[in-house]
Amino acid sequence: MLFMTIPALPAWPYPFWIAHRGAGKLAPENTLAAFRLGASHGWRMFECDAKLSRDGVLFLLHDDRLERTSNGQGIAGQQPWAALSRLDAGAWHSRQYAGEPLLTLERLAHWCLANHLLLNLEIKPSPDTDADTGQAVAQAVARLWQGQGVAPLLSSFSTTALQAARMAAPALPRALLLDTLPADWLTQAQALGCIALVAEHALWTSETMGAAKAAGLRTLSYTVNEAAEADRLRTLGTDGIITDRVDFFSPAA
Ligand code: G3P
Ligand code: MG
Repeated sequence: MLFMTIPALPAWPYPFWIAHRGAGKLAPENTLAAFRLGASHGWRMFECDAKLSRDGVLFLLHDDRLERTSNGQGIAGQQPWAALSRLDAGAWHSRQYAGEPLLTLERLAHWCLANHLLLNLEIKPSPDTDADTGQAVAQAVARLWQGQGVAPLLSSFSTTALQAARMAAPALPRALLLDTLPADWLTQAQALGCIALVAEHALWTSETMGAAKAAGLRTLSYTVNEAAEADRLRTLGTDGIITDRVDFFSPAA
């Protein structure tokens, strides 16, 4: 008889449900107002996007540029924090959030630790800053969470950023983000010492899910906003779902 060796999956301290960018689309993404709103709906873990200012301050913003989600202009990472900190990152969303500032990683860390909430911290480098951003995020997380709380799961589409994060703080948990499946998707994640893959949800099939689990990797799915798709992924065995719909899904389920 042939016995296959299935590796034990890594320890997993994170809940199944993760709120995308704080509270999805209900509040200005990646601001403290969004995290507060997500938490008020019972969410315990949040995905968000971190990058560096020109002078080395880590803050949250999804896009390279400022226009979509603030009243600023240009490449965010080319501006000093003194300028970024004066921007309005809430008025674009709705009047009730006018004046909401950009959020530093340090401020978010203190808030998460005070409220016993968890993070999936996506390393989102500005152009040509992948290694610096990966290193800075890992160093900051190691310092801010040292000896307390559950360390954030660091993730990135950038293998360069993940490698730099690994060099800076090898013990922090890492995940490779995938929006397509390159031929070497599993070996790439393993070579980076990742414990998980965070894949665009349609990439998960019984074959890909089975292959990831057989490789000893946890499997997360983004961004899932439909109940039928969440059910499909749960049946396949996904370890977590990232969603915008914090008022639709129940994070306790
Ligand atoms: O981390 C999951 C998801 O946020 C990745 O895509 O573009 O929403 O940052 P994006
Ligand atoms: Mg993201």
